[in-house]
Formats: sequence, C-alpha cells, structure tokens
Amino acid sequence: MSKTAALASRNQEPLALSVEDVIKAGGTPSDERPTGVIVTIDGTAGTGKSTVAKLLANRLNFDFLDTGAMYRACALLSIAHGIQINQSGPPPHPLLAVVQRAALHFDWSLPTPEICVFGNPVEGLIRTKPVTARVREVALIPELRDHLVRLQQLIGKQRPWLVTEGRDQGTAVFPDAPVKFFLDADLTLRAERRKRQVKDLADTPIAEIKNELDLRDRSDRSELGGLREPHDAVRLANNSDDPLVIVEQMATLVRERMAARNLPGRP
Ligand code: DC
Repeated sequence: MSKTAALASRNQEPLALSVEDVIKAGGTPSDERPTGVIVTIDGTAGTGKSTVAKLLANRLNFDFLDTGAMYRACALLSIAHGIQINQSGPPPHPLLAVVQRAALHFDWSLPTPEICVFGNPVEGLIRTKPVTARVREVALIPELRDHLVRLQQLIGKQRPWLVTEGRDQGTAVFPDAPVKFFLDADLTLRAERRKRQVKDLADTPIAEIKNELDLRDRSDRSELGGLREPHDAVRLANNSDDPLVIVEQMATLVRERMAARNLPGRP
C-alpha cells in the first residue's frame, strides 16, 4: 500500500475535543501579560520567505512555523481520501472533518519541525506536483482556513518564541505580534529564482515567468485569505543572493524591538 493510501485507511474516529475546547481548557486569562515574542513574515511568492524565516528562527533561537506546510498537508489529505475540492453541497466542506480527525501537528523535536497527519510525518509528500497543483484551491475553503488559523494561534500559545511565515500571519493570525515583516523582491530576481528552482521552467523565457508571477501577485492579493500587507509591518526587499544579508538586518531589528518594549528572551 502506498504511504498516501495508508493515510487514507487510518482510524477515522472523530476527536472528542475541538480546537476551541482545548484553547478554553488552557484558560489563558485575558489580562495575563503575554509571554514570548511572535515574529511574522508575510510576502509575495518567490521572495525566499521560507529560507529567510528558517534562518531567522535559528539565529534568534526561536521556533519556526511553516504555515504553507499546513495547507499542503490538507491538500495531501484531500488526495488520499479522494475528496473533491469543488463541492456543491452546503458547508462545512467534507475535507474539514478529515483534517480534524487527522490531528494536524508538527514534530517539534526536529531541528526543522515536520508536519504530521494521523501521527505520520508527511514532509516527504507535501512538496510533490499533485499537492502543489491542488493546494491553492484547498486554501480557499473558508472553514478550513478558520480551522488552520485557530491551530496556528494555538501553536503561538504553546511555542510563544516563534518566527511564523505565510501570507496572513501579521494580519489574520497574529495581528498583535510585536514584530512583523513583509518581504518582497525584484520581479526579475524572483523570476530567475523560480527558473532555477522549478525544473519544468528551464526552457521558459524569463519574460514569460515574470508575467506569470505578476498575474499571480494580483490574484493572490484579491482572493480569500489572500496576501495582505500588515499596516505595521517592516517592508524589506530580499534582493541579495545571500539570504544572510537580510536575516542579519531582521535579527537586529527584532532584538532592538525586544529591548525597547522590554520583551522577554527565550528562557
Ligand atoms: O508557501 P507555500 O507554497 O508552501 O504555500 C502553499 C499554499 O498555501 C499556497 O497556495 C499559499 C497557501 N497559503 C495560504 O493560503 N496561507 C498561508 N498562511 C500559507 C500558505
């Protein structure tokens, strides 16, 4: 049996507790002084966000949250369970129940945490072509987004020294984060990076890739859960080939802000 089929055949008993129940049980009093420092990184596609976020987390000794991996894991589950994304029935979308049963979580014991579904690490399956082809549509399901946003907020409570990367982190997920970044990069550089990274684009002219990226930026900004620049984010352009250049700049800014606001370092 393939790993994907094995995932589909796991025990499908519903969880007795919802994410809200767990958050309530945690019982964080609303007047409690926040502990930790959440750093959000949002930005356009192909700006090297993940690389920068991982390096920054490492530099600060914070945890790193890859929210795209969560959407990708949901896309994988939809394939494994044969669930169509375009459904005509009333909400909630049937994928939501599967995602809830799968108890999406990260294995934080690894240097770069891996996403798990039904207790299995699936990092090796989520960056494949079928998942990449489906994830955009999956990320448009409103009740699924709500679920993942709540999970991300829960992770923020459990691992409060966090660098989190996505497209809605400084707006929908952690609007009160003390440090927010918005990454962009020169369109030609982004197109060149993409050409290097995606084998299928090896023979495609740069002008065509640039055009595609430009179109994607426009639709990214207009769709549900789409890319939104936080009004209080520090905007940076990742135009160097060496990601450490921007990471140093960001780490300095985080430390300055922590000192200015008297925010606690990680114990
Ligand atoms: O960053 P990535 O390519 O792994 O993201 C996968 C998909 O999930 C992509 O279509 C954008 C979407 N996504 C999202 O809608 N919200 C997030 N916070 C992160 C990713």
